[in-house]
Parts: sequence; C-alpha cells; structure tokens
Amino acid sequence: MEFQTRCVHVGVDKDPAYLSATTPIYPTSTFRWDDLENNRGFDYTRSGNPTRSALEENIASLEGGIDCRATSTGMSAITATTYLFEKGDHIIAGKDIYGGTYRLFADILAHQHLEFSFVDMLDLDALRAAVRPETKGIWIETPSNPLLHVTDMAAVCQVAGEAGAITIADNTFCSPYLQRPFEHGVDVVMHSTTKYLNGHSDVVGGCVVTRHEQHAERIGYITNALGLACSPFDAWLVLRGIKTLGPRMEAHQRAAQAVAEMLEAHAGVTKVFYPGLPGDPGHEVASRQQDGFGAMLSFEVDGGREAVDRVLARTSLFQLAESLGGVESLISYPETMSHASMDEPARRAAGITGGLLRVSCGIEHPDDLCADLADALA
Ligand SMILES: Cc1ncc(COP(=O)(O)O)c(C=O)c1O
Repeated sequence: MEFQTRCVHVGVDKDPAYLSATTPIYPTSTFRWDDLENNRGFDYTRSGNPTRSALEENIASLEGGIDCRATSTGMSAITATTYLFEKGDHIIAGKDIYGGTYRLFADILAHQHLEFSFVDMLDLDALRAAVRPETKGIWIETPSNPLLHVTDMAAVCQVAGEAGAITIADNTFCSPYLQRPFEHGVDVVMHSTTKYLNGHSDVVGGCVVTRHEQHAERIGYITNALGLACSPFDAWLVLRGIKTLGPRMEAHQRAAQAVAEMLEAHAGVTKVFYPGLPGDPGHEVASRQQDGFGAMLSFEVDGGREAVDRVLARTSLFQLAESLGGVESLISYPETMSHASMDEPARRAAGITGGLLRVSCGIEHPDDLCADLADALA
C-alpha cells in the first residue's frame, strides 16, 4: 500500500465485535483471563492495550520499522531510547536540538551515568573528532529545532558505523510523510507525536520506532518497566490524526514556503532559516533526503527583543504559544520558550539569538498567513 493508504488503514480495521470503521477505545486498566494459562493477548494496559497497539502498528508501518512503542510524551520516548545505553557510554548530539532534549542530556543524564558531547552536526570533521572509544550513540535531530539545520543522515550513519555507535533520529519536524530516517541508515527513530503525527494540538504523546530485534525488545521492556506508555484515549487521538497526515503536511509546507519567501524579501527581517529556500545551507541535503521541506521555519528580526515584542503583539493568526505541528499556526520565541532550558552560552553556541522567532505554519491559507506576519512586521 502507498503511504497515505497506510496512514488511513494500517492497524485500524480491528473490531471483530461490531465491525466499526474506526478503532475502538479500550479504556480499561486490566483484561480478564480465560484461565490461568490463557488471555486474549492483553493483560494490563501499562504493558499493552489494543488501541495503543493499533497506533503502534500504524506508525511502525509509516516509518518502515519492525516495532513501535507509543509513549506518554515525546520526552518519555527520548527517555526510553537512553536506556539503550549503559553506564559510562558517550553520546554525541547536535548543538542545536530541542531544549528539552538538551536539558535531559546535559542537566540530568550527564550527572548520572551517561556522557554527552554537543557538536555542529554539519561539520563531519568535528563529529569525527568528538568520537571516543566509549562513544555508543549519535543523536540526530534533523531539521533541527529551532534553526532548521539539516543533518546529512547517511554521512552521520557512516561515522557512527566506523565508531561502532548506533544512531537515533528525532523525526518530529518532518514526520514520516517527508522523511524516513531508516532509509538513510538510522537505527532508531523517535517522535513527539504531539506535533505533526497527531496534528491537532489536542494531545501530548511520543513514540519510539525500531528496526533491529534487540532494540525492539529493549524498548518494549523499558516502556513497560518504567511505565512510559500512553493512555488508550491519547493513542486513539493520534491514530485519528495520522489519517490526514499526508494532506495536512502538503498544506503545511505550501504555507511555509510562501511565508519563507515573504520573509526573505522583507526589509525588517535579517535572516530566514528554511531549507525550502534555494539559498539555505541545508537546501541541497534536504532535497536529497526529504520528500519536502516541512513547515517549520525561523527568522531573525531587525531590532532584537524590542522588535520581537512588537511582532508578537501584532500577529493574530500566528498565536504566541509553545509547540508546533498543529493545524493552527503558532509563533514562539526560542530564547525564553522552547530553549529556555538551555543556558545562555549554550543557546549562543547553538546560534540562537535574542532576535530569533520560530514559526510553525498551520494549514490556513498561505495568503492570510503571509499578510498576518507582514502586517506584524510593518
Ligand atoms: C523536536 C522535538 N523533539 C521532542 C520534543 C518533546 O516532545 P513532547 O513535548 O511531546 O514531550 C519536542 C517538543 O517540542 C520537539 O520539538
């Protein structure tokens, strides 16, 4: 089946009782056993639930993996992947990654049992130089949050292969509709399903997708043992959202391309970060490894914080809010919002300035979105 057909059908048609066209929600904590030896495949919802399984089957198919575990948030998905490593292991990640991921790595796990280096993922020599004998993982977030840097996944996987490390990709910004990291050699994929997979800003969730048996087993064990799985209702919402993933992503990125071009030509904007612009440093790699340029972009306004405040006070369609990937357009200020959990030196090292704004283009008409931002910048 083609991708969009799988979005609608894989895992979904499973109602032997009444043949409903959508997956039933099983809001139960536990399942009856037929006798001490036999149950119907589920015993306790932390360990497994039919609604969650339907979602997991669907996402595994979209990413091309052998297994998926749906979690309560994107952060719990990231947490689960860190249990693929052992005490003393070293992990290399990009300098500009989601602030919450950076916080988990630098502020929590680095004080416990893992070691991290943060490098410029676009500089393969720097990446190679960061490799140590105990390097066991490379964390890829592409395009990155918030600067939309595009990492060449095949090249990074080659470095990882030489180092004997595994690669984990956060595919939240593209969704599997635009990018499937397994096709480029990545070992494990995770998502914040809060974003494009669900797409309606009405749930928080995550998932880990694997393509090797030993990783699938470990992630399944960890999500159960640590209690990271999502609720049946949240799983149902995400499964519902995924059915329109393809058409939504097309509308999202049509809007983003128009907004990026408008911003690039605007006198009040000093820089636009969007791989869909031919002059963007990530354009060539993105054209190769993505099926589209996505709908996230950032830009720097002339005039720093004062100009930022002015723009944020004037937008009406772009709502000032955290998050991304929903049908409604959002605007945010990484400095004090998504990346506040990075300290200032780390933000500056990552290239996040006080004049940077990030937008998530929704599926509203591109003309309305361009007019809204242009008016705010005027
Ligand atoms: C790229 C990326 N990864 C992971 C996360 C964390 O996801 P969640 O907020 O669902 O825990 C986010 C949240 O914004 C994100 O942008």
